[in-house]
Amino acid sequence: MLKRNVTNLIFAETIRYMDIIKQLKWRYATKKFDKSKKLSNEKLEVLKQAFNLTATSFGLQTIKMIVIKDVNLRASLLKHAYNQKQVLEASHLLVICIQDDVLNEDVVNYYENIKATRKTSDTILKPYREELINMMTKMSVEERQQWSKNQAYIALGNLMTVCAAEGIDSCPMEGFVPEAYDEALGLAGMNLKSVLLLPVGYRAEDDIFSGFEKVRRSIKESVIEL
Ligand SMILES: Cc1cc2nc3c(=O)[nH]c(=O)nc-3n(C[C@H](O)[C@H](O)[C@H](O)COP(=O)(O)O)c2cc1C
Repeated sequence: MLKRNVTNLIFAETIRYMDIIKQLKWRYATKKFDKSKKLSNEKLEVLKQAFNLTATSFGLQTIKMIVIKDVNLRASLLKHAYNQKQVLEASHLLVICIQDDVLNEDVVNYYENIKATRKTSDTILKPYREELINMMTKMSVEERQQWSKNQAYIALGNLMTVCAAEGIDSCPMEGFVPEAYDEALGLAGMNLKSVLLLPVGYRAEDDIFSGFEKVRRSIKESVIEL
Protein backbone atom coordinates (compact mmCIF):
# COMPACT_ATOMS: atom_id res chain seq x y z
CA MET A 1 0.00 0.00 0.00
CA LEU A 2 2.74 2.41 1.07
CA LYS A 3 4.78 1.44 -1.99
CA ARG A 4 1.84 2.16 -4.29
CA ASN A 5 1.27 5.57 -2.64
CA VAL A 6 4.93 6.49 -3.08
CA THR A 7 4.80 5.35 -6.72
CA ASN A 8 1.66 7.45 -7.27
CA LEU A 9 3.34 10.44 -5.68
CA ILE A 10 6.41 10.11 -7.88
CA PHE A 11 4.15 9.71 -10.91
CA ALA A 12 2.14 12.81 -9.95
CA GLU A 13 5.35 14.80 -9.44
CA THR A 14 6.65 13.65 -12.83
CA ILE A 15 3.41 14.74 -14.48
CA ARG A 16 3.60 18.11 -12.73
CA TYR A 17 7.22 18.55 -13.84
CA MET A 18 6.32 17.64 -17.39
CA ASP A 19 3.37 20.04 -17.31
CA ILE A 20 5.39 23.11 -16.38
CA ILE A 21 8.10 22.38 -18.95
CA LYS A 22 5.40 21.74 -21.54
CA GLN A 23 3.82 25.10 -20.71
CA LEU A 24 7.18 26.90 -20.80
CA LYS A 25 7.72 25.45 -24.27
CA TRP A 26 4.17 26.45 -25.23
CA ARG A 27 4.69 30.09 -24.29
CA TYR A 28 6.47 32.49 -26.61
CA ALA A 29 6.80 36.24 -26.95
CA THR A 30 3.44 36.73 -28.65
CA LYS A 31 3.58 39.16 -31.55
CA LYS A 32 -0.06 39.01 -32.64
CA PHE A 33 -2.93 38.74 -30.19
CA ASP A 34 -6.52 37.84 -31.01
CA LYS A 35 -8.29 41.15 -30.32
CA SER A 36 -11.62 39.41 -29.76
CA LYS A 37 -10.39 37.18 -26.91
CA LYS A 38 -10.41 38.77 -23.48
CA LEU A 39 -9.08 37.54 -20.15
CA SER A 40 -11.78 36.62 -17.66
CA ASN A 41 -11.88 38.45 -14.33
CA GLU A 42 -10.72 35.20 -12.69
CA LYS A 43 -7.59 35.03 -14.86
CA LEU A 44 -6.91 38.70 -14.26
CA GLU A 45 -7.23 38.11 -10.53
CA VAL A 46 -4.62 35.31 -10.76
CA LEU A 47 -2.19 37.73 -12.43
CA LYS A 48 -2.79 40.43 -9.83
CA GLN A 49 -2.20 37.94 -7.03
CA ALA A 50 0.90 36.53 -8.75
CA PHE A 51 2.33 40.04 -9.07
CA ASN A 52 1.66 40.77 -5.43
CA LEU A 53 3.14 37.42 -4.35
CA THR A 54 6.38 38.08 -6.25
CA ALA A 55 9.37 37.84 -3.95
CA THR A 56 11.21 41.14 -3.55
CA SER A 57 14.46 42.02 -1.81
CA PHE A 58 13.72 42.32 1.94
CA GLY A 59 10.03 42.00 0.96
CA LEU A 60 9.83 45.76 0.53
CA GLN A 61 7.69 45.73 -2.67
CA THR A 62 8.76 49.04 -4.17
CA ILE A 63 7.05 48.08 -7.43
CA LYS A 64 3.50 48.50 -8.73
CA MET A 65 1.52 47.06 -11.61
CA ILE A 66 -0.91 49.06 -13.71
CA VAL A 67 -3.57 47.08 -15.59
CA ILE A 68 -4.83 48.87 -18.69
CA LYS A 69 -7.97 47.62 -20.40
CA ASP A 70 -9.03 50.89 -22.08
CA VAL A 71 -8.41 50.44 -25.81
CA ASN A 72 -8.35 54.18 -26.58
CA LEU A 73 -5.72 54.78 -23.96
CA ARG A 74 -3.68 51.89 -25.36
CA ALA A 75 -4.04 53.24 -28.90
CA SER A 76 -2.49 56.50 -27.70
CA LEU A 77 0.43 54.54 -26.19
CA LEU A 78 1.18 52.57 -29.35
CA LYS A 79 3.54 55.16 -30.84
CA HIS A 80 5.58 55.15 -27.64
CA ALA A 81 6.22 51.41 -28.04
CA TYR A 82 7.66 51.61 -31.54
CA ASN A 83 4.25 50.66 -32.92
CA GLN A 84 4.42 47.18 -31.46
CA LYS A 85 0.79 46.16 -31.92
CA GLN A 86 0.70 43.85 -28.91
CA VAL A 87 0.17 46.96 -26.76
CA LEU A 88 -3.20 47.50 -28.45
CA GLU A 89 -4.31 44.04 -29.57
CA ALA A 90 -3.74 42.13 -26.32
CA SER A 91 -6.63 41.72 -23.92
CA HIS A 92 -4.91 43.86 -21.27
CA LEU A 93 -1.66 45.77 -21.02
CA LEU A 94 0.28 45.34 -17.79
CA VAL A 95 2.75 48.11 -16.98
CA ILE A 96 5.28 47.22 -14.31
CA CYS A 97 6.48 50.33 -12.49
CA ILE A 98 8.92 51.22 -9.77
CA GLN A 99 8.50 53.86 -7.10
CA ASP A 100 10.58 56.88 -8.09
CA ASP A 101 12.35 56.58 -4.73
CA VAL A 102 12.38 54.44 -1.61
CA LEU A 103 11.66 56.55 1.44
CA ASN A 104 12.26 55.82 5.14
CA GLU A 105 8.48 55.92 5.40
CA ASP A 106 8.27 52.87 3.06
CA VAL A 107 10.51 50.86 5.35
CA VAL A 108 8.59 51.98 8.45
CA ASN A 109 5.25 51.05 6.82
CA TYR A 110 6.64 47.66 5.77
CA TYR A 111 7.69 46.85 9.34
CA GLU A 112 4.30 48.05 10.63
CA ASN A 113 2.73 45.55 8.22
CA ILE A 114 4.94 42.74 9.56
CA LYS A 115 4.03 43.74 13.12
CA ALA A 116 0.31 43.70 12.33
CA THR A 117 0.42 40.51 10.23
CA ARG A 118 2.72 38.37 12.35
CA LYS A 119 2.26 40.05 15.74
CA THR A 120 6.03 40.39 15.98
CA SER A 121 7.21 42.67 18.77
CA ASP A 122 8.83 46.00 18.00
CA THR A 123 11.88 44.98 20.04
CA ILE A 124 12.60 42.20 17.55
CA LEU A 125 11.83 44.30 14.47
CA LYS A 126 13.58 47.55 15.41
CA PRO A 127 17.18 46.51 14.59
CA TYR A 128 16.14 45.08 11.19
CA ARG A 129 14.15 48.22 10.37
CA GLU A 130 17.04 50.48 11.30
CA GLU A 131 19.54 48.39 9.36
CA LEU A 132 17.38 48.60 6.23
CA ILE A 133 16.88 52.37 6.59
CA ASN A 134 20.63 52.67 7.05
CA MET A 135 21.32 50.62 3.90
CA MET A 136 18.82 52.58 1.80
CA THR A 137 20.11 55.93 3.04
CA LYS A 138 23.65 55.08 1.91
CA MET A 139 22.48 54.53 -1.69
CA SER A 140 21.99 57.30 -4.26
CA VAL A 141 18.51 57.84 -5.74
CA GLU A 142 19.74 56.16 -8.96
CA GLU A 143 20.99 53.14 -7.00
CA ARG A 144 17.66 52.85 -5.19
CA GLN A 145 15.86 53.03 -8.55
CA GLN A 146 18.14 50.36 -10.03
CA TRP A 147 17.48 48.21 -6.97
CA SER A 148 13.73 48.58 -7.54
CA LYS A 149 14.16 47.84 -11.26
CA ASN A 150 15.78 44.52 -10.36
CA GLN A 151 12.60 43.67 -8.47
CA ALA A 152 10.48 44.67 -11.50
CA TYR A 153 12.31 42.07 -13.60
CA ILE A 154 11.61 39.37 -11.02
CA ALA A 155 7.91 40.29 -11.21
CA LEU A 156 8.05 40.10 -15.01
CA GLY A 157 9.54 36.59 -14.91
CA ASN A 158 7.05 35.48 -12.30
CA LEU A 159 4.11 36.82 -14.34
CA MET A 160 5.37 35.19 -17.54
CA THR A 161 5.63 31.80 -15.86
CA VAL A 162 2.20 32.14 -14.25
CA CYS A 163 0.77 33.18 -17.63
CA ALA A 164 2.29 30.06 -19.19
CA ALA A 165 0.89 27.83 -16.44
CA GLU A 166 -2.55 29.43 -16.85
CA GLY A 167 -2.58 29.16 -20.66
CA ILE A 168 -2.40 32.94 -21.03
CA ASP A 169 -0.24 34.42 -23.79
CA SER A 170 2.08 37.32 -23.06
CA CYS A 171 4.91 39.34 -24.54
CA PRO A 172 7.63 40.78 -22.27
CA MET A 173 8.58 44.23 -23.56
CA GLU A 174 11.40 46.64 -22.91
CA GLY A 175 10.84 48.19 -26.33
CA PHE A 176 9.02 51.36 -25.35
CA VAL A 177 9.84 54.88 -24.23
CA PRO A 178 9.36 54.90 -20.44
CA GLU A 179 9.37 58.71 -20.16
CA ALA A 180 6.54 58.95 -22.73
CA TYR A 181 4.52 56.31 -20.86
CA ASP A 182 5.14 58.09 -17.57
CA GLU A 183 3.85 61.31 -19.10
CA ALA A 184 0.81 59.74 -20.80
CA LEU A 185 -0.24 57.80 -17.69
CA GLY A 186 0.47 60.64 -15.26
CA LEU A 187 2.87 58.42 -13.33
CA ALA A 188 4.85 61.30 -11.80
CA GLY A 189 1.70 62.20 -9.84
CA MET A 190 1.76 58.68 -8.39
CA ASN A 191 5.52 58.79 -7.70
CA LEU A 192 6.03 55.98 -10.21
CA LYS A 193 8.20 55.26 -13.23
CA SER A 194 7.39 52.64 -15.87
CA VAL A 195 9.99 49.93 -16.42
CA LEU A 196 8.44 47.03 -18.33
CA LEU A 197 5.36 46.14 -20.34
CA LEU A 198 3.55 42.82 -20.47
CA PRO A 199 0.62 42.65 -22.88
CA VAL A 200 -1.48 39.60 -21.94
CA GLY A 201 -4.30 37.78 -23.71
CA TYR A 202 -4.61 35.05 -26.32
CA ARG A 203 -2.54 34.49 -29.45
CA ALA A 204 -4.06 35.11 -32.89
CA GLU A 205 -4.41 31.92 -34.92
CA ASP A 206 -2.26 33.42 -37.66
CA ASP A 207 0.63 34.61 -35.46
CA ILE A 208 3.43 32.89 -37.37
CA PHE A 209 5.72 33.18 -34.35
CA SER A 210 3.64 30.61 -32.44
CA GLY A 211 4.87 27.86 -34.76
CA PHE A 212 8.57 28.72 -34.60
CA GLU A 213 10.99 26.35 -32.89
CA LYS A 214 12.39 27.65 -29.61
CA VAL A 215 15.96 28.88 -30.04
CA ARG A 216 17.93 28.07 -26.92
CA ARG A 217 21.42 26.90 -26.00
CA SER A 218 21.72 23.28 -24.97
CA ILE A 219 21.30 22.61 -21.25
CA LYS A 220 24.99 21.63 -21.21
CA GLU A 221 25.94 25.09 -22.45
CA SER A 222 23.73 27.02 -20.08
CA VAL A 223 24.03 25.01 -16.87
CA ILE A 224 27.27 24.23 -15.06
CA GLU A 225 27.15 21.40 -12.57
CA LEU A 226 29.95 21.24 -10.05
C1 LIG B 1 13.26 41.87 -20.80
C2 LIG B 1 12.73 41.49 -22.14
C3 LIG B 1 12.38 42.49 -23.05
C4 LIG B 1 11.82 42.15 -24.28
N1 LIG B 1 11.39 43.15 -25.13
C5 LIG B 1 10.68 42.80 -26.24
C6 LIG B 1 10.03 43.79 -27.03
O1 LIG B 1 10.08 44.97 -26.78
N2 LIG B 1 9.30 43.35 -28.10
C7 LIG B 1 9.18 42.03 -28.43
O2 LIG B 1 8.49 41.71 -29.40
N3 LIG B 1 9.79 41.08 -27.70
C8 LIG B 1 10.52 41.42 -26.62
N4 LIG B 1 11.10 40.45 -25.84
C9 LIG B 1 10.94 39.04 -26.23
C10 LIG B 1 12.24 38.31 -26.54
O3 LIG B 1 12.74 38.70 -27.79
C11 LIG B 1 11.95 36.81 -26.48
O4 LIG B 1 11.50 36.51 -25.18
C12 LIG B 1 13.18 35.98 -26.80
O5 LIG B 1 13.55 36.15 -28.14
C13 LIG B 1 12.92 34.49 -26.54
O6 LIG B 1 11.81 34.02 -27.29
P1 LIG B 1 10.51 33.41 -26.61
O7 LIG B 1 10.13 34.30 -25.47
O8 LIG B 1 9.48 33.44 -27.72
O9 LIG B 1 10.84 32.03 -26.17
C14 LIG B 1 11.68 40.78 -24.63
C15 LIG B 1 12.05 39.79 -23.71
C16 LIG B 1 12.54 40.14 -22.48
C17 LIG B 1 12.85 39.04 -21.49
